[in-house]
Amino acid sequence: MDVFVIEGGRPLHGSIRVNGSKNASLPLLAAGLLTCEPLELLDVPRLADIANMRRLLDRLGCESGESGNGVRLRTGDESASHAPYEIVRTMRASICVLGPLLARRGRARVSMPGGCAIGDRPVDLHLRGLRALGAEIELEGGDIVARAPGGRLRGSTVFLGGTFGSTVLGTANVMSAAALAEGRTVIESAACEPEIVDLARLLTAMGARIEGAGSPRITVYGVRELAGASHQVIPDRIEAGTFMYAAALTRGEIRLENCPLDALMAVRETLEEAGVEVHAETDVSRDPMRATVRVRGPDRPSPFTMTTQPHPGFPTDLQAQAMALASVADGHSVITEKIFPERFLHVAELQRMGAKIFRQGPTAVISGVEALRGAPVMASDLRASACLVLAGLAASGTTVLNRVYHLDRGYERLEERLGPLGASITRVQEQTG
Ligand code: EPU
Repeated sequence: MDVFVIEGGRPLHGSIRVNGSKNASLPLLAAGLLTCEPLELLDVPRLADIANMRRLLDRLGCESGESGNGVRLRTGDESASHAPYEIVRTMRASICVLGPLLARRGRARVSMPGGCAIGDRPVDLHLRGLRALGAEIELEGGDIVARAPGGRLRGSTVFLGGTFGSTVLGTANVMSAAALAEGRTVIESAACEPEIVDLARLLTAMGARIEGAGSPRITVYGVRELAGASHQVIPDRIEAGTFMYAAALTRGEIRLENCPLDALMAVRETLEEAGVEVHAETDVSRDPMRATVRVRGPDRPSPFTMTTQPHPGFPTDLQAQAMALASVADGHSVITEKIFPERFLHVAELQRMGAKIFRQGPTAVISGVEALRGAPVMASDLRASACLVLAGLAASGTTVLNRVYHLDRGYERLEERLGPLGASITRVQEQTG
């Protein structure tokens, strides 16, 4: 297992290009199951989760290969319909294949994803949505076994709101399935995340008829067949936000190219409240999702209050990184997690580095300290790991981050990306035995 050795206290300076979005790419790749024609996705990041999804698609008869910065997919064999536990357990987003398989092949068997470090993560809303489209669904031996009577789903009105808001991958599943269903589907309380808008763009390029993506009501007019298409994935708003926090925490100044500023409104607000300067260098009205943005950290951040919410609210996937910033703010900050109320595994690790955090239920009160101190820390999930890398970059002394594989699921060779900006991060093989 790899570990990171981080020497802190060096401000980041320079330019960095934001990669294509992981969370957009996963359902886009699954859309390869909706057609037998070739699909080309440009700017897919090279990440462990993406490799897992491609492995799963391969099992399902959809082969993929790389060409330049793109991934080409083509389904040649539609006989398989089983997404087995051995792949699903490594990546919860495997659930993305459920809607496309069911819509195109009339049947699907997908191992039920378990919980993960950030909480229970149920899939009841996915199943509710697909049942509303006529699917018959049972649980058998830990698998979701779904069937479309007569081989085709039927359009309907579907409500996707749950206790914690809508569901992003649930919306992706139902929208993809509805694209091939008979008749009209209305998805109420749909997720409004930019990744859903991107999926709707790809499906539309494939011949689907979709209105309202990006709003809580999406209408899909089902078609018989979908065709191949070529599509450029949106840049990763979470990677962009992580880099913004890195600049802020190290009192650095960086330039982000290919930055989806339009998808980062709430993050920008929160950063500015903390005294971080965020300045667009390109005409944002022209290409709001691919801006060039300069970010400059203050000498010491001001405290701030923030609550994670569904888009366009502050994203849960940046909560941990924001907490690293609050840890060194000049006063008390309050952070509330409304999407995954248990997503606080980074708290104890930040405390090992000297942070003063008091957590009660979904809320954490952070009393900023003047500086964090390097320490050995343990990554527990993807975004908690990112938070600890940032904390390590800001801390005095050396931080050793264990279990870097969590980070590699969502950030491509982060040490090599941040190195040219002045970060000192060395990847080493952990000594075992
Ligand atoms: N929920 C239900 N029932 C469901 C589905 C979700 O109650 O059937 C609840 C969840 O437990 C949670 C809330 O609804 O409280 C939102 O979950 P959602 O379904 O939107 O999450 P997801 O689609 O499984 C995606 C991202 C996550 C990101 C969340 C929220 C991908 C591959 N994953 O997950 O990303 O945190 O949306 O924005 O797109 C990450 O990248 O680190 C990550 C965890």
